[in-house]
Amino acid sequence: MSNINRRRIITTGAVGAVGLTAAVATQSAKANTQNPPEPQSVVSGGNRFADKVVLITGATSGIGESTARAFAAEGATVHFCGRREALGEQVAQSIQGAGGKATYQRADVRSEEDIKAFVDTCVSRYGAIDIAFNNAGVESSPATVAERPLEEWMNVMTTNATGVFLSMKHELPQMLRQGSGIIVNNASVSAHTGFATIAPYSASKHAVVSLTKVAALEYADKNIRVNSIAPGAVDTPMLRRAMAAWNTNAETIAQDYPIQRIVMPEEIARSVLFLCSDEATCIVGTDLDATGGYLA
Ligand SMILES: NC(=O)c1ccc[n+]([C@@H]2O[C@H](COP(=O)([O-])OP(=O)(O)OC[C@H]3O[C@@H](n4cnc5c(N)ncnc54)[C@H](OP(=O)(O)O)[C@@H]3O)[C@@H](O)[C@H]2O)c1
Repeated sequence: MSNINRRRIITTGAVGAVGLTAAVATQSAKANTQNPPEPQSVVSGGNRFADKVVLITGATSGIGESTARAFAAEGATVHFCGRREALGEQVAQSIQGAGGKATYQRADVRSEEDIKAFVDTCVSRYGAIDIAFNNAGVESSPATVAERPLEEWMNVMTTNATGVFLSMKHELPQMLRQGSGIIVNNASVSAHTGFATIAPYSASKHAVVSLTKVAALEYADKNIRVNSIAPGAVDTPMLRRAMAAWNTNAETIAQDYPIQRIVMPEEIARSVLFLCSDEATCIVGTDLDATGGYLA
């Protein structure tokens, strides 16, 4: 398939707004019938992250929630944020109920005051931040550059790009004090190529990769590893909102990816854990392609 076709198809299935419909959910499930991974909803498994403190932004749903569950399943203590308080408490209780260690704190990544309080609370409660997954993000609605309201541009850029900057700004001093740390930022396939009608999202994700590379270089000799991850289409509330906004479905989007299916959030979680594991000690400043071959 030509690059032009790839871009056209993904554009119709890229990030947007509005709610999940039952029809979309069914299509999404169908697209994942080809060798889907087992959902990791129960806390159990290995012990790679026992005694590690993991900070995650935006774990009230989607990739962040799955990653919180995966870290807790491997013994980590997880402290996470998001704006939806009831959901945050529910996710924390669910992880605790399954035998894991997780606490929720309301924080909005657009606010430096909130991020500082989130990081400070984690350190005062657990004594460290061994790993940070800066994941919180929002999509943009379908619109051309000329049609885009400034307000939406600012919100997406502030959440996705400034949010990652603020998170690292407050995580890194603690990691320097500890003498070690690992950071993974959530970027996107949209950080690597242009997709029509998603300017704020695409620009913000390019910024995430750029921030990742700069921070990686600044802290590599301080025993702090900074990387990012580039998911493609992942079955989360964000993708379902986007499919509704662009009036498309999972089958159409899946055609654009060499693996011919939508990726599950648990698969992204496992890739994040890999980047944070002892198997990745020499990986610095990379943006890990987790798209299922789109960037190949
Ligand atoms: N799904 C995909 O296909 C895909 C592909 C590439 C990259 N990504 C990236 O993956 C990340 C997670 O997205 P997702 O797909 O898992 O969507 P999601 O289910 O909508 O999750 C987004 C998370 O970010 C949090 N968040 C958003 N704005 C926030 C703010 N201002 N302050 C704090 N938390 C905030 C949300 O929590 P609250 O609403 O409770 O605040 C939620 O927990 C995003 O950075 C997204 O760009 C997703």
